[in-house]
Amino acid sequence: MQQISLLEKSNGNKISVVPTMGYLHKGHLSLVEKAKNFSEITIVTLFVNPTQFAPNEDYSKYPRDFKRDVELCEKAGVNYLFMPDALEMYPIGFSAKINIGRVTEDFEGKFRPFHFEGVATIVAKLLNSTLPNFAVFGQKDYQQSLLVKKIVADLNFPLDIIVAPTLRESDGLAMSSRNIYLSDEDRLEASILFVSLEKARNAIENGERNRKIINAIMHKTLRSVKNLRIDYASSALADTLESPDEFLPGETIVLLLAVYLGKTRLIDNTILKIPSILKSNNSAFEEFKA
Ligand code: PAF
Repeated sequence: MQQISLLEKSNGNKISVVPTMGYLHKGHLSLVEKAKNFSEITIVTLFVNPTQFAPNEDYSKYPRDFKRDVELCEKAGVNYLFMPDALEMYPIGFSAKINIGRVTEDFEGKFRPFHFEGVATIVAKLLNSTLPNFAVFGQKDYQQSLLVKKIVADLNFPLDIIVAPTLRESDGLAMSSRNIYLSDEDRLEASILFVSLEKARNAIENGERNRKIINAIMHKTLRSVKNLRIDYASSALADTLESPDEFLPGETIVLLLAVYLGKTRLIDNTILKIPSILKSNNSAFEEFKA
C-alpha cells in the first residue's frame, strides 16, 4: 500500500483516505464524495479493528459484507481499497499502543475504556500505510474526530483532517452500520436521539446556557422511550470537551449522546454556537431548573 501511495504521489497525485470498518452505507459514500473534492486519488480502508472492541462488545458479530463493499467502492469511483487482515495489522508480538489523553477520557472513553486506545493505534497505522494528504472522518463519531486531530497535531502526521457532516435518515436517525441491529419497533423509536438533540438546540437558541439544564432536556426527552437506556446525554465545549457550569455567548459546544435502544448502542451529536442573545426571564425551560 505504501509503495502504491508513493508512486501516485511521485506522479503528482494527491491522495485522500477514508478509513472505515466496512458495511458501507450512504454516510460512508458521502465521505468518499467529500474526499474526491480534495484529491485525484481516493483510498478507502476497510478493516474491522479488533482492538477497539472490548471482549463484551460486538466485534465478532459486527456486520460485514465485503463483496457488497467492494462493489459500492467501485461504483463510487474509489481508486484503491485497502483491506488488510488482522494478522497483517497485528502480527504476533505487536505491542504498541497510542494513548491520546484528555479528549478521550469522558463520554465514550468512560463507557468504553480501551476503545480509543485501539482507535488511535489503528488510525495511526492506517495513515502510515496509506500515506495520504487528506483523511476524511465522519462527525458522527465526534470524539473520534477530535482524537484523530490530536494524533495528527501531537505526533506530526503530515496531512490534513477533514470532518464531514453526519448523514441522516428522513426521521433524523444518524446513518450507522449498527442501525441494522435495530428491531422494527426500536427503529421506529430511534428518531428520539435526533429529537432530543434538537430540543436541546432549541432551548439554547432560546437563551439557555446552563449545562445541567441543557443535559436535563436531552435526558427527559430520551426517557420518553421505554426501551431506552442512557449511557450519557451531555453538553461540552466542542474543542476540549470541558464541561463548564454555564456556556458563554460565542462558544462552540457539542451535544453528545450514547444510548442503548434495546440491545443496540447508538451515538449521535450536534455542534452549535451559543448565540449572543440575552436569556429571557420567562424561559420555556424553567421546569428543568427544579
Ligand atoms: O470510524 C470507524 O469506522 C473506525 O473507528 C475507524 C476510524 C475506521 C478505525 O477503526
